[in-house]
Amino acid sequence: MSKRLEGKSMIVTGGASGIGLATVERCLKEGANLVISDLASSDGAAKAQALNGQGGRCIFIPCDVSSTEQVDHLIAETVRQFGKVDAVFNNAGIGGITPAVDYADADYLRIIDINLNGVFRVARAALRQMYMQGSGSIINCASILGTLGQTGTAAYSAAKGGVVNLTRTLALEAAPKGVRVNSIGPGYIDTPLLKDLPPEMRQGLVNLHPIGRLGRDEEVANAVLFMASDEASFVTGAHLLVDGGYAAGKS
Ligand code: NAI
Repeated sequence: MSKRLEGKSMIVTGGASGIGLATVERCLKEGANLVISDLASSDGAAKAQALNGQGGRCIFIPCDVSSTEQVDHLIAETVRQFGKVDAVFNNAGIGGITPAVDYADADYLRIIDINLNGVFRVARAALRQMYMQGSGSIINCASILGTLGQTGTAAYSAAKGGVVNLTRTLALEAAPKGVRVNSIGPGYIDTPLLKDLPPEMRQGLVNLHPIGRLGRDEEVANAVLFMASDEASFVTGAHLLVDGGYAAGKS
């Protein structure tokens, strides 16, 4: 069987850790050339070096998604090195738990700027390139908190809800140009983002998922792989929950 991303070039923002890194590993095995993009302070360069050649090529391009300049450079540098951009997983994100009334402007805006505006910046730059190519697939990482609210997550859930609806509008604009845009909504996934949770809080999160456990990063990677591949050629503007049944309701 041929590899599912053979010859494709793909960028994963926030690719040095967690869901992003798992997606890089999965998509490399399917024959894609991968850009791990992450903060310059991350260990993305070492991760890329370790993975290079395990399937396609893997390189690191530093980029803070809160900087338009760095985002535009990310796309230009990918084109310089790989010739094109077939898929982008817009995954970089940060967490934050604060009651709404206690939020300082700067903390609230920082979460919105990385989790929502960052997705827009990367999508805008990628779409400009993909329109020239006449093809491409963008996958935006939202969250179960793009569909449901949760106390303490005013900034995060506002950003993720924004990602879900931004995706729909981008999909409408991009469809006539041969480009697909979709979002995914992971439930709670066992990644470094959750590493500092006390055990009782962690169990509380497990209980939210009818499947009875937290998700694994490779389970999200599989959904991204599908969206990036030509198997999803008639899928655009969709929001795919990967949430162990969380949003289905209470049992
Ligand atoms: P993680 O903390 O393991 O990885 C996030 C990566 O994003 C890190 O490598 C970090 O350096 C990078 N990053 C942070 N700020 C950045 C910026 N300004 N520019 C570029 N890169 C930046 O987290 P995880 O869990 O893998 O999360 C990935 C995505 O999945 C995020 O968008 C998160 O909101 C989303 N998500 C995670 C869930 C979870 O339970 N872990 C659940 C639902 C969604």
